Amino acid sequence: AEDKLNYVKSKIGEYPNFPKEGIIFRDIFGALTDAKACVYLRDLLVDHIRESAPEAEIIVGLDSRGFLFNLLIATELGVGCAPIRKKGKLAGEVVSVEYKLEYGTDTFELQRSAIQPGQKVVIVDDLLATGGSLFAASELVRKVGGIVVESLVVMELVGLEGRQKLNGKVHSLIKY
Ligand code: PRP
Ligand code: HPA
Repeated sequence: AEDKLNYVKSKIGEYPNFPKEGIIFRDIFGALTDAKACVYLRDLLVDHIRESAPEAEIIVGLDSRGFLFNLLIATELGVGCAPIRKKGKLAGEVVSVEYKLEYGTDTFELQRSAIQPGQKVVIVDDLLATGGSLFAASELVRKVGGIVVESLVVMELVGLEGRQKLNGKVHSLIKY
């Protein structure tokens, strides 16, 4: 597992001063162009859930880079998946929650029909920064009656302290 992790890490892109001066942008897409990194990343994510949340019944991915992983994980585990999307994109009855971005706010939505009351949910995304997105996602899952059994990201920007906002309840494969 350590070898797979180091391999994936070596393929993640690093772009200083994107999208703004002083930010180092960690780019998951850099790893996904590499066939071996794709398979390793899948294995690492799936193995973690098999270990930490074997009771998972549905994998929820966050708009947009969480979608790279929720279906992938779901097919391996033999469960379903669902999206949380930015407002106005999802049909039917939705629940909404506003969350903070670095500047201003945005709104996430989840279809009420996506999750059954009492269902055990894993939330997945590419990256944890301030934790606002994952916190909002957990709120939405709770609003429709789901139980968040695990939150999982590929990368965590430790200095932004998103983990504290989530009371430590998040797992990351790679820390920066
Ligand atoms: C990025 C990233 C996470 C979120 C993390 O997505 O993919 O979803 O920010 O930040 P936070 O922990 O501070 O909430 P972004 O909102 O840029 O959307 P995108 O995937 O559509 O580009
Ligand atoms: N990479 C991808 N998404 C992000 C980042 C990053 O470094 N910081 C905040 N969102």
